[in-house]
Amino acid sequence: MNMIFLGAPGAGKGTHAARVAERLSIPTISTGALLRAAIAEGSELGKEAERHMQGGNFAPDELVLGIVKERIAKEDCKNGFILDGFPRSVKQAEALDALGVKIDCVLNLHVEDEAIIDRMSGRRICTKCGATYHVEFNPTKDGLHCDECPGILAMREDDKPEIVKARLVIYHEKTAPLIEYYQKRGILKTVEGRKNLEKTAAAVFEALGI
Ligand code: AP5
Repeated sequence: MNMIFLGAPGAGKGTHAARVAERLSIPTISTGALLRAAIAEGSELGKEAERHMQGGNFAPDELVLGIVKERIAKEDCKNGFILDGFPRSVKQAEALDALGVKIDCVLNLHVEDEAIIDRMSGRRICTKCGATYHVEFNPTKDGLHCDECPGILAMREDDKPEIVKARLVIYHEKTAPLIEYYQKRGILKTVEGRKNLEKTAAAVFEALGI
């Protein structure tokens, strides 16, 4: 099954995509994580992405499309994949269609903006493997290191409240129209992402019928 996880920044796309990916043994492709890895490597692509992403803006469409195209061509995607954070605009969705990629289901996680701003201040990510935690809702065992590897936890640069607000404005303007785009195709399923992690995970599994 090829899926897209849609939702505002901090809605829980990465968290729930990881759980679904594990259950179905398919990879999650997070364009945000791939871009952050390119920035950390200091590659030319990473430097270009970073120039655009500062302040919460999108990386250029061609650059992101190139990354996605290369990633979904890999062997581990042949039984399906989850796109997390892509497409992020109708233009990107049309570009994905033009590649001939068939999408079976789009999961839209709905969370109000106010809840997102509170939630993001508590998010921590592993600086080594990128795993996501939350100081209150999903803490690690010692609160300082990742549970999966020896990596140290840190706050994401773009989780500062002023940048989160800017990202939400961009989300409503550019990404939210995708809800209608995929609704018209009859493949959109919306899940309320405001409940606690376990209840939301159960609702996601139920919506996907897995
Ligand atoms: P990206 O990394 O994709 O960021 P995002 O879409 O803004 O989403 P987030 O990763 O912030 O949140 P999420 O929905 O995955 O939530 P999470 O599961 O972590 O992109 C970053 C940047 O890269 C973009 O701003 C852009 O510049 C660039 N970019 C990426 N893709 C691009 C594209 N296609 N084109 C152009 N540019 C692109 O959850 C958040 C927190 O809440 C966590 O701490 C989690 O533990 C907690 N949580 C989750 N669910 C619950 C719950 N139900 N209850 C309590 N806590 C919960």
